[in-house]
Amino acid sequence: MIPEHIAIIMDGNGRWAKKKSLPRIFGHRQGIKTVKKIVKSASRLGIKVLTLYAFSTENWERPKTEIEALFSLLSQFVEKELKELASEGVKLRILGDLSKFPQNLKTKIISACKATQKNSDLELNIALNYGARQEIVRAIEEIVKQNIKKPTEEIISSFLYTAGQPDPDLLIRTSGEFRVSNFLLWQIAYSEIYITNKLWPDFTSQDLEIAISEFQKRERRFGGI
Ligand code: FPP
Repeated sequence: MIPEHIAIIMDGNGRWAKKKSLPRIFGHRQGIKTVKKIVKSASRLGIKVLTLYAFSTENWERPKTEIEALFSLLSQFVEKELKELASEGVKLRILGDLSKFPQNLKTKIISACKATQKNSDLELNIALNYGARQEIVRAIEEIVKQNIKKPTEEIISSFLYTAGQPDPDLLIRTSGEFRVSNFLLWQIAYSEIYITNKLWPDFTSQDLEIAISEFQKRERRFGGI
């Protein structure tokens, strides 16, 4: 079975650049190229939802110059690459709180989401200023506001950024760290986890296929026997 939803923690851009004695931003630039390739491959492989962790709530701690460079790359991605991907049936959704982002970037992102609303081949979730605990707090606040006295798992899911989407079947993390880093904590309850030593800029479509075939070998029991 092909996983319906794959989530990826794209780690290792900085290390990739360091290995080549280049500034960190070169790693992010290369990382964007990988993003484009992997989105295309995911779509070709019949994956329905692809979630990419692009900027966490903790990433604000990085130097201002790196944050600005990341925003600029993101802006270019939304403007140029996404247009092409959109014509191939990609629908964009943002997971996270965009309110702290520069106004022009926010406007671009929101209009890209609107412009791709009718697409249905691949849903591309980009997690931006995202933190899973914050997402859960936000859901609880909404549940309290709506005076829901008996929240069920389904109700809680419906207040998360991923509302209406299946939970990830497979979580991939690049660059060899064994951490979840506040990513999709609720949604990954039963996800298979695949960790590769490859740094994100070096991650290829073939690596994605290897991760999927590894996933296919696993026996998912969802707590049963
Ligand atoms: C992790 O590498 C990567 C990030 C924090 C940013 C990921 C962002 C991109 C690939 C570009 C924007 C994405 C999209 C979807 C358009 P790191 O810098 O933490 O690497 P290190 O751990 O080796 O330092």
